Amino acid sequence: MTLTETHTETHTETHTETHTETHTETSPRTAVAALARDVVKIYGRGDTAVRALDGATLSIPAGRFTAVMGPSGSGKSTLMHALAGLDTVNEGQVLIGDTDLAGLSERQRTLLRREHVGFVFQSFNLVPTLTAAENIELPLTLAGRRADRAWIDELVEMLGLADRLLHRPAELSGGQQQRVAVARALAARPRIVFADEPTGNLDSRAGEALLGFLRHAAHELGQTIVMVTHDATAAAYADQVVFLADGRVVGELPAPTVPEILSRMAGLGSAARSGKEK
Ligand SMILES: Nc1ncnc2c1ncn2[C@@H]1O[C@H](COP(=O)(O)OP(=O)(O)O)[C@@H](O)[C@H]1O
Ligand SMILES: [Mg+2]
Repeated sequence: MTLTETHTETHTETHTETHTETHTETSPRTAVAALARDVVKIYGRGDTAVRALDGATLSIPAGRFTAVMGPSGSGKSTLMHALAGLDTVNEGQVLIGDTDLAGLSERQRTLLRREHVGFVFQSFNLVPTLTAAENIELPLTLAGRRADRAWIDELVEMLGLADRLLHRPAELSGGQQQRVAVARALAARPRIVFADEPTGNLDSRAGEALLGFLRHAAHELGQTIVMVTHDATAAAYADQVVFLADGRVVGELPAPTVPEILSRMAGLGSAARSGKEK
């Protein structure tokens, strides 16, 4: 079997599977990519303990683009870290696919993340000494996996990075750096991609291009995406918005529009203020 054959096979198979799941789903329930159930996360102890998550329950549908919104301090980043297996929780259950994270050692969680989770950060987090191409392939290199050439070429093409591949991050614009980070996150075809404020350091045009790609990745490539954001315009690109307040999921909005998001957020802001001093 030649390399090319293997790659093409994998590529086609995954595409077909994903499309079937996403678009010809007949059951009323979509496949779940990740799940948090009654999750409690407490930072610190004693008088200074903070209940960052206070019974958060959320299921992330596969092949969809989900935005998580909430006031500052409502637990968005904590929830993302819990769902991504970056951190353990005090109570409740977290599943990635069918895997219950509670049963895993730190080492096993690391391996699960490498295999199944991709990340995009507000600050890009590219390795400055590596080229764009090397950054994109880094998760595969770390996992000891061979790059799926056709898939990476396709990502690079879709993200408009073809002529930037030999440049280092310092030679790229913010928008280009974040597109490299997105290609890196998708390179290993993870079960789920988490993005924490991915447009926070981008100008509005670069931000819109990135958000358009994330939506495309969910709809056309079947990629499950969870994005934490405080920006209603960004959240409106998602298929659904999940609202957090005081460490709990307090609402969901399918097919969101900017005015609907803003109005929900305004309600949360006053609820959060009346219940908390900050
Ligand atoms: N490492 C930490 N140690 C102590 N408290 C933390 C830590 N991380 C977050 N918190 C607290 O947990 C709460 C939720 O934080 P976070 O998840 O970062 O909220 P968000 O991302 O919605 O702004 C906040 O009160 C925050 O101060
Ligand atoms: Mg945060």
